[in-house]
Amino acid sequence: TSFLASKSQIAFFLMTATLIKLCKCVFLCFSEKLLVLTVATEETDGFHRFMKSASYFNYTVKVLGMGEAWKGGDVGRSIGGGQKVRLLKEAMEALADQEDLVVLSVDSYDLIFAGGPEEILRKFQQANHKVLFAAEGLIWPDKRLADKYPSIRSGKRYLNSGGIIGYAPYINRVVSQWNLHDNDDDQLFYTKIYLDPLQRETLNMTLDHKCQIFQNLNGAVDEVLLKFGTGRVRVRNTVYDSLPVVVHGNGNTKMYLNYLANYVPNAWTYENGCSLCDDDIVDLSQLKVSYPNVLVGVFIEQPTPFLPEFFQRLLTLDYPKDKLNLFIHNNEVYHEKHIQKFWEENRNVFGSFKVVGPEENLSQGEARNMGMYYIRWLAVCEMLLSFICSDGITISPFCLLLPYRKIIGPLVTRHSKLWSNFWGALSLDGYYARSEDYVDIVQRKRVGVWNIPYMAHVYLVKGSVLRNELKERNYFVLEKLDPDMAFCRNSREMTSHREKDSPSPESFHMLRPPKGVFMYITNRHDFGRLISTANYNISHYNNDLWQIFENPVSVHRSLSDRVFVLQPCPDVFWFPVFSEKACDEIVGEMEHYGSWSGGRHEDKRISGGYETVPTDDIHMKQIGFDKEWLHFIREFISPVTLKVFSGYYTKGYAVMNFVVKYTPERQAYLRPHHDSSTFTINIALNNKDRDFEGGGCRFHRYNCSISSPRKGWSFMHPGRLTHLHEGLPTTNGTRYIAVSFIDP
Ligand SMILES: *[C@@H]1O[C@H](CO)[C@@H](O)[C@H](O)[C@H]1NC(C)=O
Ligand SMILES: *[C@@H]1O[C@H](CO)[C@@H](O)[C@H](O)[C@H]1NC(C)=O
Ligand SMILES: *[C@@H]1O[C@H](CO)[C@@H](O)[C@H](O)[C@H]1NC(C)=O
Ligand SMILES: *[C@@H]1O[C@H](CO)[C@@H](O)[C@H](O)[C@H]1NC(C)=O
Ligand SMILES: *[C@@H]1O[C@H](CO)[C@@H](O)[C@H](O)[C@H]1NC(C)=O
Ligand SMILES: *[C@@H]1O[C@H](CO)[C@@H](O)[C@H](O)[C@H]1NC(C)=O
Repeated sequence: TSFLASKSQIAFFLMTATLIKLCKCVFLCFSEKLLVLTVATEETDGFHRFMKSASYFNYTVKVLGMGEAWKGGDVGRSIGGGQKVRLLKEAMEALADQEDLVVLSVDSYDLIFAGGPEEILRKFQQANHKVLFAAEGLIWPDKRLADKYPSIRSGKRYLNSGGIIGYAPYINRVVSQWNLHDNDDDQLFYTKIYLDPLQRETLNMTLDHKCQIFQNLNGAVDEVLLKFGTGRVRVRNTVYDSLPVVVHGNGNTKMYLNYLANYVPNAWTYENGCSLCDDDIVDLSQLKVSYPNVLVGVFIEQPTPFLPEFFQRLLTLDYPKDKLNLFIHNNEVYHEKHIQKFWEENRNVFGSFKVVGPEENLSQGEARNMGMYYIRWLAVCEMLLSFICSDGITISPFCLLLPYRKIIGPLVTRHSKLWSNFWGALSLDGYYARSEDYVDIVQRKRVGVWNIPYMAHVYLVKGSVLRNELKERNYFVLEKLDPDMAFCRNSREMTSHREKDSPSPESFHMLRPPKGVFMYITNRHDFGRLISTANYNISHYNNDLWQIFENPVSVHRSLSDRVFVLQPCPDVFWFPVFSEKACDEIVGEMEHYGSWSGGRHEDKRISGGYETVPTDDIHMKQIGFDKEWLHFIREFISPVTLKVFSGYYTKGYAVMNFVVKYTPERQAYLRPHHDSSTFTINIALNNKDRDFEGGGCRFHRYNCSISSPRKGWSFMHPGRLTHLHEGLPTTNGTRYIAVSFIDP
């Protein structure tokens, strides 16, 4: 029995010990409080982001120094930041005797929370020290101190002052030692205290070597990935397999932090999509009362296809036109006729209409600056003409863009390409780098509003940004950068003289608050397409026709979406292919060339030199359009062939491609004949009863006539054997058709 008794005594003892432990934990968990202290002198975009992540996790945050002038150093690379210590020292005086208070001092402009206060407290207790500093792999600002650091087996070795956590009395004992100037270096101050072995022991200090709480991104971008959970996103350090709670974009990793913060803690998730997209959205019904004035800057710096269509699209913006103020810079003599026409027809439609022509000889950057200085209005819309919306910018997307973010652009992509108007990441030297999410954003697999480092072609800037954050900037001119690069860099960064030399990571310890304005791209709607301005040859009469390789969809009606085929006679198929404009341009091009064959039997253009059933025509080859025409046949006609003559695979090859002109004065009709083709296409290029009378086509075998061809529609019928046909007489005016004998 004694043995049993002693055993139960032991059990009792163990139970008590556990209870005490439990109580201690309960006591600790309930009594210890976490207070976040941060220094911010201005409410930058980064500050708002920090506060948003803090309030998501219900942190108690006290902001020190708001409204004070920043004195903690002038440029990013010099030392500074003492002001932060001074403000912390002042704040800690009142908290010095609160033994249960845990103070977390962090930067705010370039930092977000990925987890909550309970987790921080738990991890802090596990660290079993009174003061814990963030750590990083790069030493700053005094490299000579490296040897003085305690050696560690693994982990980040050096102190970073962007994050400190500790019991209030201990933090107080650290910062109360401050007696330097506001522009002295805070990190050096903390480093020296930490490196003093005596202080390290008495103040019970250590570093968060393995990123349990603090993740500094400088030098560690490759270690950190997004970790998607249910309804919540974290960052994971893959080297230490930790889930850090405080993520700090120190040094030149701001862009990477921006990328992470597009997701963390719940900004975008697979389950719920974008949760912040509707923040700051403006009530459209309120907007109706007073629409902001918008300066629409259109910058034409090179020959640009489809310019008249672009102008027409401006007219379809469902926005009060008197609130739209047009500023057009045109550097191309070729486009003066287009602008002149648009101006004559619409100058009174807009609030104002200003054109600066090629004679001013402005550089691209100067022209854009001029547009921006021209702003006397609330918001600025800056549109580059290298961009065209296939569907036009309609009201809802355009209004959604309006006063929503300081700088925001609609995502526009080049048709069926991954090419778009933004970059998801920057390389170290400031050029394109592909981000993990770039393709998903372009393909709209992830939909939202994305903080990105660079965009071009089309974006909207709030006038207030130009008057405040970017006031002293030469917005669009910076070194040798193109205007968009200059503008984006000016927006991202704080002072124009920074980063003149290419930055090395360790020279980028950022102490002064970055004033960077966040730039967003939205893909919440399909805003349209980017056209390609490459290879735009303006030596033709109607140059846009030749864009079939570069910008196919803009030239032709898209057949791929909905092939709409009628069958007016047996095995004669009838479907739309060309827009009105394409038809007019083909006719215009032919009449401009002007050498119609006259419909004679002798024909030098064909092998043999003799045509049995001649028409009054011009071959595509004669105007240099045969390559383009064959491309059109392969891209747009072949799919229809496969659909209507199933099992027949066309080579899409044709020698005879021509436009025929029927008119009572010259040749009015064509006698019954077969074509030297497997199948023939015959496209009406103008309107019956408007441009001509009569006309049409008759297929003898079936006693079937089609007397009302539709402009832009094509017939397709077998060429030999079954479909003997004739061109019915045109009785008045002029009828044009385009014909191809395919697979001869
Ligand atoms: C923050 O507090 C609110 C209200 O008490 C609560 O609904 C919410 O769940 C808390 N958030 C977190 C992340 O704990
Ligand atoms: C630091 O403090 C913890 C208690 O918070 C204690 O267990 C540990 O021994 C101390 N370390 C040093 C080096 O004094
Ligand atoms: C236009 O400006 C460029 C560079 O500023 C200069 O080289 C060129 O001579 C100018 N052309 C005319 C026609 O003034
Ligand atoms: C532009 O087109 C003209 C006429 O077809 C041709 O002679 C010229 O080589 C083309 N230019 C380019 C750069 O392709
Ligand atoms: C051809 O059709 C027309 C009416 O569409 C009819 O009047 C004529 O008799 C037909 N001819 C033959 C040979 O069937
Ligand atoms: C031909 O068309 C013109 C213009 O539409 C019209 O004035 C004229 O009377 C027409 N001629 C005939 C013979 O129908």
